[in-house]
Amino acid sequence: MNGMMGHNMADSSGEAARLIFTPEVEAETAPVWERLRARMPAVEWPIHAPLIAAINRLKRSKNAVILGHNYMTPEIFHGVADFVGDSLALAREAARTDAKIIVQAGVRFMAETSKVLSPDKTVLIPDLQAGCSLASSITAADVRLIRSRYPGLPVVTYVNTTADVKAETDICCTSGNAVQVVEHIARQWGVDRVVLLPDEFLARNVARQTSIQIIAWAGRCEVHERFTGRQIDELRVMYPHAQVLAHPECPPDVLAASDFAGSTAAMTDYVTRLKPRQVVLITECAMADNVASESPETEFLRPCNLCPHMKRITLTNIYDALRTDRYPVEVDANVAVRARRAVQQMIDLPPPTAPARYDLVKARYHVNVELI
Ligand code: 13P
Ligand code: SF4
Repeated sequence: MNGMMGHNMADSSGEAARLIFTPEVEAETAPVWERLRARMPAVEWPIHAPLIAAINRLKRSKNAVILGHNYMTPEIFHGVADFVGDSLALAREAARTDAKIIVQAGVRFMAETSKVLSPDKTVLIPDLQAGCSLASSITAADVRLIRSRYPGLPVVTYVNTTADVKAETDICCTSGNAVQVVEHIARQWGVDRVVLLPDEFLARNVARQTSIQIIAWAGRCEVHERFTGRQIDELRVMYPHAQVLAHPECPPDVLAASDFAGSTAAMTDYVTRLKPRQVVLITECAMADNVASESPETEFLRPCNLCPHMKRITLTNIYDALRTDRYPVEVDANVAVRARRAVQQMIDLPPPTAPARYDLVKARYHVNVELI
């Protein structure tokens, strides 16, 4: 494949780095290409491979680690991430790593969580604009108002929030442990109602899994809110044998119509363990691309939706981040102490023995939630 192809990259300061697809780069990156070749046009590889080789060398020389979310593109996920997983697994890894630098291949709230858990490390986010519609749906002032409206009730926040918001709350959760966290905090406080912010659909889906009453906020994930139960019904007609796996940020009627629901890690586990012949992953598109290389026997069907924030992260900006130490994420020390308490409480819960799944029989019964 080698033709000594070059790749010109200009960083924002106008400097250009020329990385060449040499025989050495080809040999160095051959194991990654093996994983990607079934899903990537060969013509793309000479563009990615020199960046992958350069990033991996920089990581070693700078004692850096790349934490990659499951929604990263395959060349990042398989090529340069040292650790991949769902939001819960990435938070646990950020707390554990002894690397000097963490590059967050994900969105900004994830980088803030890493910084809050590892305040002495440098945490870099390759693109400052990598936001999240859930994180921007609520502010710390909103949480203070909610607390004054619901005195005596614990406030649980999804990790998809800013550090400022986490600092105002009692404990964090992810889609992988939301039911466990809600039940834990209700027991600890001796209450039967819990405020769960800011994802309305996650809150509605959790409410169907527990006897604890849920008070919710009207935040939405712009990727998952677009799926509909009707879309799933239509898929069933077209592909009667396909297994439908949905993320709990989807509307409740989507979960009710699915065969399985869980975090991105739970979906990966389902596909790699059960090897369905045909599967639809009702979530971000990169999931199917990443799981496919582990699951050659499974056919991945559409639909899927792209997260524009996750897609801001590229090999080029990861390379620039490592090369120029940009963009360091800072969290105010007072905020960090309080946010750390909320995240650490979650991390200290016993880790799930298997990725948590949502009970879809319960998911079919309507349960009221109070929307703030
Ligand atoms: P999980 O990986 O925790 O399932 O979260 C999905 C997500 O939307 C992250 O932004
Ligand atoms: Fe936020 Fe949804 Fe994108 Fe995740 S997929 S970063 S929740 S907008």
